Amino acid sequence: MPARKIIIDTDPGQDDAVAMLLAMASPDEIDILGITAVAGNVPLSLTARNARMICELAGRPHTAVYAGCDRPLGRELVTAEYVHGKTGLDGPDLPEPKMQLRQQHAVDYIIDTLRHEPAGTVTLCPLGPLTNIATAFQKAPEIVERVQEIVLMGGAYFEVGNVTPTAEFNIYVDPEAADIVFKSGVDIVVMPLDVTHKALVTQPRNDAFRALGNAAGIAVAQMTDFFERFDKDKYDSPGAPLHDPCVTAYLIKPELFTGRHVNVEIETTSELTMGMTVADWWGVTDRTPNAMFMGDIDADGFFELLTKRIGRL
Ligand code: BDR
Ligand code: CA
Repeated sequence: MPARKIIIDTDPGQDDAVAMLLAMASPDEIDILGITAVAGNVPLSLTARNARMICELAGRPHTAVYAGCDRPLGRELVTAEYVHGKTGLDGPDLPEPKMQLRQQHAVDYIIDTLRHEPAGTVTLCPLGPLTNIATAFQKAPEIVERVQEIVLMGGAYFEVGNVTPTAEFNIYVDPEAADIVFKSGVDIVVMPLDVTHKALVTQPRNDAFRALGNAAGIAVAQMTDFFERFDKDKYDSPGAPLHDPCVTAYLIKPELFTGRHVNVEIETTSELTMGMTVADWWGVTDRTPNAMFMGDIDADGFFELLTKRIGRL
């Protein structure tokens, strides 16, 4: 099978960085057409910088990186320095990137790519708030039916929320954008907290990354050392959750994940439950299923894949 063509839309973020590294280490399965940065974990200037630092860490300085939207569609940006640190990528001491951002706006890049690649051959992989994707869909509605699939990290059902009692960060930051994407009709695969809270970097897994001895492996160990404190304090969990790498792992080994094809709608009006992913897991409505909502992961298989691939860099 030819490698799957993807655009990674991201707000790095240590876990975004690991997701990117996994994709860049897997050229047989994944062909990264471009990387689009969006405001999320930290402001856009930092996510656009961090994305380039990770390309250089992976030895891929020619990857095309574009800066996109610097704020959600209709609200103020909420960031998560309390999780990811001031830079969004606290932990390792990585050099400032030498590679330049591409001139084009990320939204226009997404539109152009979907117009020019054969229909049904490009998968979008959002790892942050859905602002860039929704803006592209609004600006050029004809591209929507040309998307092969969207595989995203966001939302929660059984785990409910991490930024409010009912909402996961990526969806909460831009619920209007998420609403547009979930109503778009594109096939969607969702990696919610229900899955990602089982993808934990325990101490032996962290040691395995460090023991790889390459720059990427050591940086992954340092990144997860840094951002595990938030989840350890909050959930008493044994390590940092690797949310976003579930997306790129799915492209390589979908059999690591199980879920249900259900209806998912986004709460955009209630202040109390803003950004909630209302997933009809139990099939109690007659709403049409619009997403493959994952519920479980083979965590050992996931970390085995991740460690092996990061070791290639
Ligand atoms: C998501 O929010 C960000 O903090 C992470 O990078 C991930 O994409 C988890 O809720
Ligand atoms: Ca992210």
